[in-house]
Amino acid sequence: MKKTLLWMLVCCFALQVSAQKKPSILGGSIGELKEENTEIHLPTPEYGSGLPLMEALQRRATSRSFLPEPLTLQEISNILWAANGVNRPQLGLRTAPSARNAQEIDIYVFIEKGVYLYNAEKHMLMPIVNKDFRRELSDQKFFVDVPMVLAYVANFDKMEKFSDEAKEFYSATDVGFVSQNVYLYCASAKLSTVVCGMFDKDLLKKVLTIKNGKPLLVQPVGRAAE
Ligand SMILES: Cc1cc2nc3c(=O)[nH]c(=O)nc-3n(C[C@H](O)[C@H](O)[C@H](O)COP(=O)(O)O)c2cc1C
Repeated sequence: MKKTLLWMLVCCFALQVSAQKKPSILGGSIGELKEENTEIHLPTPEYGSGLPLMEALQRRATSRSFLPEPLTLQEISNILWAANGVNRPQLGLRTAPSARNAQEIDIYVFIEKGVYLYNAEKHMLMPIVNKDFRRELSDQKFFVDVPMVLAYVANFDKMEKFSDEAKEFYSATDVGFVSQNVYLYCASAKLSTVVCGMFDKDLLKKVLTIKNGKPLLVQPVGRAAE
């Protein structure tokens, strides 16, 4: 009797372990990092680079053609700093304004190596998921070749004092400044970009395990194919 009971306990334990190991519906270990996926220190942004602002404004345009070749770490550094980096370190303020300085727009970086969160204070990429999700973000055809996609997510933990209506409204306005900064940097550096509202928001929520926030827009960036 005792032996049977012991055997049943062993079986139950084995079943539980195998259930935990079952791959998720996304086929990977979401939120679980593999050892090789570590944080990435970005080089100092090239503050003096690119076209003058008026010329960049003249060139600012949506482009949906991308070469698959990866961007350099320097280019990624410049793009992210332009997007929403810290430009007044003494005050911790950013290149993009935000309502009541909530700084609630988180930027997730989707590259071949996986998904990272941009830490503006440290100008670093923090690893989130060790899997390439770029192609799955949207079925628009230019996602097939794009080397990097930025995903803008409203982090409502940073908007505790806002009403629900204000959270929706101000995060939707604030993300526009971030996206336009990227458009202007791309125009000045002759890169290709398109901001997109059509993407899989449920997938993004699952991949990033967002509990108190809202995926707003995604923005592929790369070198133009033509
Ligand atoms: C909020 C927003 C969402 C957009 N979503 C998409 C999209 O999902 N796919 C796409 O190809 N373009 C998208 N666009 C790009 C617009 O189509 C583009 O800005 C517009 O045609 C004007 O072109 P321009 O940016 O060159 O001035 C979006 C633009 C905005 C502002």
